[in-house]
Amino acid sequence: MIKEINTRRSIRKYMDKPVDDEKIQQLLESARLAPSGSNTQPWHFIVVKSDSGRQKLSEASHNQSWMLSAPVFIVCVADIRCRIDEKVDVFLDENSPQGELKQIIRDTSISIEHILLEADSLGLGTCWVAWFTQEEIRPILNIPDDKYVVGIITVGYANEAPNPRPRKKLEDIIHYENW
Ligand SMILES: Cc1cc2nc3c(=O)[nH]c(=O)nc-3n(C[C@H](O)[C@H](O)[C@H](O)COP(=O)(O)O)c2cc1C
Repeated sequence: MIKEINTRRSIRKYMDKPVDDEKIQQLLESARLAPSGSNTQPWHFIVVKSDSGRQKLSEASHNQSWMLSAPVFIVCVADIRCRIDEKVDVFLDENSPQGELKQIIRDTSISIEHILLEADSLGLGTCWVAWFTQEEIRPILNIPDDKYVVGIITVGYANEAPNPRPRKKLEDIIHYENW
């Protein structure tokens, strides 16, 4: 895995080349297998390929027009219903106080990282986009108010080869035995 961990980059320029459904299925399968707290598996995924869907999602993501060069978006959604009963009214947004929201975002993020690494191993580029609000994204895809969009993953064949982005040094982040 260290190969994919090393070579993955956020890709913001894609070739005009479709991605086989088989490969998309493989990305989704890798997400499905992710670990989650109490095995709750709070994640759902919406595959968007249509021009109109991608256009609206890109506009709602602060007009990040580079997104449109990617032929496929995977919208990754966390569902709080694995932790809060349907009978209880829940409206989720960036300011929601529910502790369960942290848990479902945590778990869905793990599944998203699986997608990014699996994509790299399949020769595909991705970028995790999260510069949007729930209010802007949810209506575009008819996502109910008790779900939380954790990221839109752009997927396609990379048309750029960015250098590695800087990372902190190990000695600046590792502690032994105590903080
Ligand atoms: C939660 C999350 C949200 C992100 N949102 C955006 C975004 O909205 N637009 C964008 O261009 N990149 C976005 N990125 C990509 C980061 O900028 C990128 O991962 C970081 O700069 C490190 O670069 P690398 O992924 O190539 O290693 C996001 C990444 C993460 C993990």
